[in-house]
Amino acid sequence: MASFFPRVDFLFLLLFLFFMSSHSLRFGVSRRRAEEKPFIYDPSRVTQLSWSPRAFLYKGFLTENECDHLISRAKGKLERSMVANRQSGKAMLNEARTSSGYFFGKRQDAVIRRIERRIAEWTFLPEENGEGIHVLHYGLGQKYDTHPDYFQDKFNQENGGNRMATVLMYLSNVRKGGETVFPYAEAANTQPKDETYSECARNGFAVKPKKGDALLFFSCHVNATTNPRSVHRSCPVIEGEKWAATRWIRLRSYENQRGNNIQQ
Ligand SMILES: *[C@@H]1O[C@H](CO)[C@@H](O)[C@H](O)[C@H]1NC(C)=O
Repeated sequence: MASFFPRVDFLFLLLFLFFMSSHSLRFGVSRRRAEEKPFIYDPSRVTQLSWSPRAFLYKGFLTENECDHLISRAKGKLERSMVANRQSGKAMLNEARTSSGYFFGKRQDAVIRRIERRIAEWTFLPEENGEGIHVLHYGLGQKYDTHPDYFQDKFNQENGGNRMATVLMYLSNVRKGGETVFPYAEAANTQPKDETYSECARNGFAVKPKKGDALLFFSCHVNATTNPRSVHRSCPVIEGEKWAATRWIRLRSYENQRGNNIQQ
């Protein structure tokens, strides 16, 4: 008997050690996988919406967790969105834009780094040309009237040149309203629409916000001149609320850590 017990103890110890090591190994590996899992561009999830402006929709570009992460990190830090004055470039309050937003620094955390890299891989545009990811919140009735993403003033183009492309990631579903609409897109009048679209989305090519989807559109032609057909609006939220994240991409490297909370 006396010699039996120590062996049982030893067996338990071995089992315990084996369990712990395999568990932590598995844990470590899965964590590293989540971090380094290469993004594989899946063309079957991308639809080309329009050629002028060039616009594409990627279904399920972000995971639910990534969407929730961006929202929770921006919540509580939101400030009323501004619009750049066309001449001076100064940020000003404007009733045309009633959302609130928050700029992350570039590469601010591991999730943001991963998303920034994924955007570069999808768009084939250099990561360094991107501004910090900007989270936007539209409450009931909030909207942004038709506007371009490119700047018309000189001041905002000094760093990195103009905004040439935008990746707009939807972080939440919206029960009604909140569509992104391109009123002058070439495909504007060929899109069939049912009653699930809001009144504001009737005219133009409309994209319904869907959690995790990403919309890529180009504000510049391939010769780097601005494309007025890229103007778009965010329709008023009629039911629910809208969360989105924007990555504006410049013509050249954009050095600032933080973007400026303005647009147009
Ligand atoms: C740039 O490209 C657009 C679209 O093809 C064209 O309409 C425009 O005239 C071009 N501008 C210059 C300066 O080449």
